[in-house]
Amino acid sequence: PDYSRYMDLKEGWLDRRIFSDADIYEEELYRIFARSWLFVAHESQIPSSGDFLTTHMGEDAVIVARQPDGSIRVMLNSCPHRGNKVCFADAGNTRRFVCNYHGWAFDTAGDLKGMHEEYCYDAGDIDFKNHGLKNVAKVGNYKGLVFATFNSDAPSLEAWLGDFRWYLDMILDNEEGGTEFIGGCIKSVISANWKFGVENFIGDAYHAGWTHDSGARSMNNGQPFPPIDMQNSYHASMNGHGWEFGTEGVGDLVLLGRPKVMDYYNKIRPKMAERLGEMRSKIFGSVASASIFPNVSFLPGISTFRQWQPKGPMQFELKTWVIVNKAMPDDIKEEVTKGVMQTFGPGGTFEMDDGENWENCTTVNRGVVTRHERLHYRCGIGREIEHDTLPGIVYRGQYNDANQRGFYQRWLDMMTHDEFGKMPARPEPRLGNVAETRDL
Ligand code: FES
Ligand code: FE
Repeated sequence: PDYSRYMDLKEGWLDRRIFSDADIYEEELYRIFARSWLFVAHESQIPSSGDFLTTHMGEDAVIVARQPDGSIRVMLNSCPHRGNKVCFADAGNTRRFVCNYHGWAFDTAGDLKGMHEEYCYDAGDIDFKNHGLKNVAKVGNYKGLVFATFNSDAPSLEAWLGDFRWYLDMILDNEEGGTEFIGGCIKSVISANWKFGVENFIGDAYHAGWTHDSGARSMNNGQPFPPIDMQNSYHASMNGHGWEFGTEGVGDLVLLGRPKVMDYYNKIRPKMAERLGEMRSKIFGSVASASIFPNVSFLPGISTFRQWQPKGPMQFELKTWVIVNKAMPDDIKEEVTKGVMQTFGPGGTFEMDDGENWENCTTVNRGVVTRHERLHYRCGIGREIEHDTLPGIVYRGQYNDANQRGFYQRWLDMMTHDEFGKMPARPEPRLGNVAETRDL
C-alpha cells in the first residue's frame, strides 16, 4: 500500500486511519518494530551475572539477561519446542530458564542445555546447537540505555541515535557516574494508539497549560504553568527522535512542588556546564519533553522515563520508570521518585489527564465517517531555522507541531522503504554544525 496517502507533512495533515486501522498496525509491527532499535532495559536493572528481566519488542516477548562475561543478551521468550513462554517473572536472577510445558531448559544465553526425559529423543532428533532461544540480531548500549533490534541490516545504535545523543546526554551524562533506574516498573494499560503517547511527549507543550492546568495549580499553590517564551524555545528533531525545550531561564515549575530537587540541579549546574557546555546546562531543567523513535519518551528534569508498548491498534501498555543520577544523595532520589509518582504514575495527576484524551482521540477517530477527515499538524510550519549550536531540524517556538511532523516523517520513511540503507537521513548531515558528540 502507498502509505504516503495517509499524510502530507509539508502541508501539515494526517489521515486518522493510522490510529486504528488493523492492517496498518500489523504492518507497523513488521516494518517499524521488527526493524528499529528498541529500548529494552537500563543496565542498572540487571547489574549482575544471571540477572534478567522480561519485556516486549513490539508484541514479541523477550528476555534481557546479563551474561557471566558481563555482556547483555536479548532473546525471544518463547520455547522452540511448542512456543510456550520460558520465563514468567518480570525480573530476577537465574542460571536456567526452564519451560513449564515439557521441561526444556536453557542457559541465560538461550542455549538449550537439557530437558525432561531426554532419552525420548533418538540421535539426530534434536540438534542442541540449533534449538536455543532465538537471540536478536544486535544489542547496543548507549550510556546505560540498552537497545536491541531484530534487524541485522540496522545501522549501529550510535548512527541510529545520531545527533540526538547531543540531547540525550543531558539526562544520561549531566553528572559524573551516569544514571540508574530506581524502584520497579509501573505498568498500566491504556485504550489508545501507541503513537498518541509518543507524539505527545515528542513536542506537545501546547496541551500542558490547558489539559494539565488544574493539576498544575493544585501542586503549585494555585499558580498556572508559566507562558512559553516563544523566542527562546525550540523543537529539534532528527530521524524521528525529538526534544522540545527552552534555552533561557530554568523552568522552576518543572519539578512541580519539589523545590529540593530543583535546588539540587541548580547546585550541580556549574559542573554540568563544564561537562556539557553552557547551552545544555541551561536547557536541562527547562520545561521540556522528548521521545526516542519509535516508542520511548521521557521528561528531562521530572525524571519519568517511559515506553509505549503496542498491544493492538487501539491499546498500549505504558511502562514507567524513575531515572536518577547515581551520584544523587538518597534523599534527593526519594524526592525525585515522589515527584514522578505525583505527576506521571498511573495515579499521577497528569497521567490521568493525558490518558483520557488519548483514549478519546483513538476511539472517536475510528468512526466510519470521522476516519476520513484529516487532522491538523501545521502549527509552526513556517518557523524552521538554522541554529549554530542546536543539532537537528530546528524550529523556533515550543508551541509547534514540528517534532510531531518529524516523527511521522520517520514513520512514513520506515513504512515505505524496504532497505534501511536507502532511507533518507533527516536532517541531511550538514558540515559545520554542532555537537561534540557527533562522530558520524
Ligand atoms: Fe517448551 Fe515443550 S513447549 S518444552
Ligand atoms: Fe500531558
